[in-house]
Amino acid sequence: MAMYIVLLGPPGAGKGTQAQVIAKEFGLMHISSGDLFRENLKNMTELGKLAQGYMNRGELVPDDVTIAMVKDRITRPDCAQGVLLDGFPRTPAQADALAKMLGELGQKVTSVPYISVPADVLIERLSGRWTCPTCGSVYHEKYNPPKVAGKCDREGSELIQRDDDKPATVERRIRVYMEQTAPLIKYYQDRGLLVEVDGRQSIESVSQHMLAALRKD
Ligand code: AP5
Repeated sequence: MAMYIVLLGPPGAGKGTQAQVIAKEFGLMHISSGDLFRENLKNMTELGKLAQGYMNRGELVPDDVTIAMVKDRITRPDCAQGVLLDGFPRTPAQADALAKMLGELGQKVTSVPYISVPADVLIERLSGRWTCPTCGSVYHEKYNPPKVAGKCDREGSELIQRDDDKPATVERRIRVYMEQTAPLIKYYQDRGLLVEVDGRQSIESVSQHMLAALRKD
């Protein structure tokens, strides 16, 4: 059975950072719903234009639109060896839809690592985050700085800050997470799939704990 891992955690918990490590270790396709929306936005597609308003306000894009986008991606042949989902599902309706779409492929969610981090730490992490627009590598000006300030270690591209990392939008995103996404902790706990990892540790320690937990599954 292929691995279908759902990475759960609040905005800024380190999902994108850890996703790169886990996907490489287990040879999984990394699917980030946020990255899919941002790619659509960059290409000015109808989906991107629709998502833009929700993202800038720190709200969730409606379930039907998000589910259709992920279903289209996850059913492609390059996902048959397993997938690491980052940012999806974010509501119980999305979680039910994921179970259904994987069931149709003869698969199921195999593990749900949950990165727990308190709100004050999240705000500091998001305000210091810089991202490579070419390869998506994630940096932090204090906790994970690039070798040359402002440049991606891999691509040499000029690093950028996300529009939705402004303080007011970050606070809204955290509130929306608490209201709409946090119920998934119990959802996956009830199904025996949740593995909690303390996200306040260093990036390397979080990776070690997460990889150890996933190897046990
Ligand atoms: P999305 O792109 O998914 O954003 P998010 O969930 O808010 O998560 P982030 O990407 O902000 O944080 P992360 O946990 O990946 O942290 P990172 O590794 O970067 O979604 C954006 C928007 O798209 C949503 O608001 C919504 O509008 C829409 N959307 C997306 N999916 C959707 C869905 N399913 N349904 C509806 N709408 C959806 O780390 C953060 C920073 O901390 C970095 O600088 C990093 O270097 C640093 N860091 C990481 N780990 C550590 C550590 N252990 N110690 C110190 N620093 C660390």
